[in-house]
Amino acid sequence: MTNQKSNIKNQQSQILQVGIIGSGTMGSGIAQVAATSGCKVKLYDTNNAALYKAQTALDKILNRLIEKGRIDETEKNRIQGNIEYVDSLKSLSDSDLTIEAIVENLEIKKQVFIELEGYVSDDCIIASNTSSLSIASIAASLKKPERCIGIHFFNPAPLMQLVEVIPAIQTSKATLDKSVQIIKDWKKTVAVAKDTPGFIVNRVARPFYGEALRIYEEGIADFATIDWSLKTLGGFRMGPFELMDFIGNDVNYTVTETVFTAFYFDPRYKPAFTQKRFAEAGYLGRKSGKGYYDYDESGKKIETSDVTLSAVEESLKEQIFNRVLVMLINEAADALFLNIASAEDIDNAMTKGVNYPKGLLAWADEKGIDWCVTKMDELYNEYHEDRYRCSPLLRKMKNKGLRFF
Ligand SMILES: NC(=O)c1ccc[n+]([C@@H]2O[C@H](COP(=O)([O-])OP(=O)(O)OC[C@H]3O[C@@H](n4cnc5c(N)ncnc54)[C@H](O)[C@@H]3O)[C@@H](O)[C@H]2O)c1
Repeated sequence: MTNQKSNIKNQQSQILQVGIIGSGTMGSGIAQVAATSGCKVKLYDTNNAALYKAQTALDKILNRLIEKGRIDETEKNRIQGNIEYVDSLKSLSDSDLTIEAIVENLEIKKQVFIELEGYVSDDCIIASNTSSLSIASIAASLKKPERCIGIHFFNPAPLMQLVEVIPAIQTSKATLDKSVQIIKDWKKTVAVAKDTPGFIVNRVARPFYGEALRIYEEGIADFATIDWSLKTLGGFRMGPFELMDFIGNDVNYTVTETVFTAFYFDPRYKPAFTQKRFAEAGYLGRKSGKGYYDYDESGKKIETSDVTLSAVEESLKEQIFNRVLVMLINEAADALFLNIASAEDIDNAMTKGVNYPKGLLAWADEKGIDWCVTKMDELYNEYHEDRYRCSPLLRKMKNKGLRFF
């Protein structure tokens, strides 16, 4: 019975025709995910060099998987055989689903969507992998906006478990249900998010960077001490400054500034001058050899003996960790309060999209809702800045003695 069921599923996913637009970092990764799951993929790019690069990069990735014993030669051939590299948008006309992963520019995306709709069938789903544009604004370019949806993968797409699925206000339930099912069939964890700036991860994660930068700017501690606190006391794989260097200070700053502007300048998302100056100076992080830390030619961090770390009191490190954590929890609670996603999806998004050691709402339960409200109020009383306002949901839960889970 089970075999029969999975056969039907396989047959279904094998006949699914997927068109991917843009064969850069994200498009090529998404193509690998879909092809591995048995879909027939057409990967399109206007730039032939980008198509060639995607093809050779995939070959390398699959060879590495063979070396590691994860797949064999037959599997490699099957995956490669499922991807066709095409240089015309019209070639995607037989798609059941298209995912666009081109340059992050609304006007260019709209042009592509308008042309694409002229080629594909009426029931083809037209999705965008955008990180920062509203899905409603992209959908508005289509004659049938109800077929448009956000399907947001994380980098690198084959390795990151999370996919945010974002219905626009125009999106039909059928488009949402079908998209969620396809992404689940691709063995990914789906978190459904409201069409709001940053969706879940890029919104809830902002204080990880922003509060760390603020602590640094106040002169409380240096980069290494703040990173140490989050990693050692919090269990985060990378500290905020290491992570900003890894992402690139230019890229990370732009995301923060975009989210800040999109939220009508809510001070909670205010970018930091420190990061702006680092980006302006070309101290981008790993990719430029210098950021908050120095890196060698292979991109490895050059370890220097840290001058202040040992001099800082344990209690200060604890305070730094608690301050960043409570700001993250507050942001997650507020996302739930404003119905951005369910509590489960918010926690899954942070553990599976950015590898947080625990879901933030589960962490709030563990620390105690009382603790969260007290810490937020302490920050607010100290600074009197709107940035430190406690989420009404946390306060309500404290008064009623509730937990998230
Ligand atoms: N890089 C990330 O970490 C990441 C993560 C999630 C989402 N995204 C989003 O995914 C999208 C793509 O990002 P990326 O990092 O893969 O970019 P990229 O620069 O690596 O690749 C973009 C590709 O699109 C091609 N392209 C540009 N205009 C085109 C057009 N009109 N038609 C067809 N192809 C075109 C380019 O030649 C290039 O190969 C963006 O919307 C971005 O916001 C990026």
